[in-house]
Amino acid sequence: MSGALKAVSAPVRVNSFLPYGRQAIDDEDIAAVADALRSDYLTTGPYVSRFEAALAKTVGAKHATVCANGTAALHMAARALDLGRGSVVVVPAITFLATASAPHMNGAEIVFADVDPETGLMRPEDLEEALSRTSHADAVFNVHLNGQCGDLEAIADIARAHGAKLVDDACHALGTAYVARNGGVSPIGANRFSDISVFSFHPVKTIAMGEGGAVTANDSGLAKRLVRARNHGMTRDPADFANAGDAFDENGDPNPWYYELIEPEFNWRASDIQCALGLSQLNKLGRFVARRRALAAAYDALLAGCAPIARPCARTRPCLPAWHLYAARIDFARAGISRAAVMRALQAEGIGTQVHYFPVHRQPYYARRYGVQALPGAERYYARALSLPLFASMTEDDAVRVVDALKRVLGL
Ligand SMILES: Cc1ncc(COP(=O)(O)O)c(C=O)c1O
Repeated sequence: MSGALKAVSAPVRVNSFLPYGRQAIDDEDIAAVADALRSDYLTTGPYVSRFEAALAKTVGAKHATVCANGTAALHMAARALDLGRGSVVVVPAITFLATASAPHMNGAEIVFADVDPETGLMRPEDLEEALSRTSHADAVFNVHLNGQCGDLEAIADIARAHGAKLVDDACHALGTAYVARNGGVSPIGANRFSDISVFSFHPVKTIAMGEGGAVTANDSGLAKRLVRARNHGMTRDPADFANAGDAFDENGDPNPWYYELIEPEFNWRASDIQCALGLSQLNKLGRFVARRRALAAAYDALLAGCAPIARPCARTRPCLPAWHLYAARIDFARAGISRAAVMRALQAEGIGTQVHYFPVHRQPYYARRYGVQALPGAERYYARALSLPLFASMTEDDAVRVVDALKRVLGL
């Protein structure tokens, strides 16, 4: 293939093994982290607020709260929306464990929804069906799998009609935009149709913080609650103080040492070191996304002759995806080879692949707790899923190498 697609340079590394995802760290990132290390702040400092402001601007949200990782972000969302004991949260069955486990760890019970067998995304009818299995639902945690999104307006309408809040698990979708029915384009994270969006900046994601995550919201009350959920549930805002006698001096000024516990929370803070990296990476988001889109298009073209055994993942209409993952669809039964054998053969050729995801409702914990609901779309999506390497420092020739090896292994 031509060399038209230029890899984002990542001078730190490179070996010939192609993992399914990895970070692209350059000298600018290293300089930013070194700057944080030389500063007075290792934990909360100026990089935290600078990164939050830049992230909020990038996704078009009023508030961004950065935190330790995407799981912490989901937990903070559950705390801020009071999704605790007695609450019910709908979660699509094809997602990472944390989408269900974070609200569940806060006491909520989970109802798993089915998904589209070709995209892995929860459809409006899947949400309706899941809601028909519960007496009530307090929230829907919708997942933008692989970086695509489905019909967000219909999902928001259904959630609202049932009195449920809508949380976007956008851990795959930084840089993705939704195209509304009226033609309006809104970045995921702007919460145009949802209440809260949650991101992960794990190294395989679109930008890397080492470990890192964020929550975006437009409601200032929710944003304040999210900040509290990140930091022990404590407040230093005099307007919140309940113990006037302890809080204020004889002139009515707040005592300088004083803080109050509103309700107990964990420490989910991100450090200034992590946020220096996050900010530096965010500056490159446009290039990273362009690169991921170009590589996804290259894979699409390379797989064009491989149907019906290997195909690209189906595309959703109202979406400009940033492609966190390139999830190929492979009919292993038709190819006469198991998925494990394909993965091992590719591994032997220096190519890492992964399966996103084993249906969460069949994980032993949830199966024991709720029984196993028949979710045929999730089963069909899972059966054919295989994520091929996709990351910003990959070259076009890497994609050719992956598809050549895949074709050989599948006997194509
Ligand atoms: C859809 C989804 N939700 C939540 C998470 C949790 O993010 P983190 O690994 O940063 O805790 C991930 C990360 O893999 C994810 O893919």
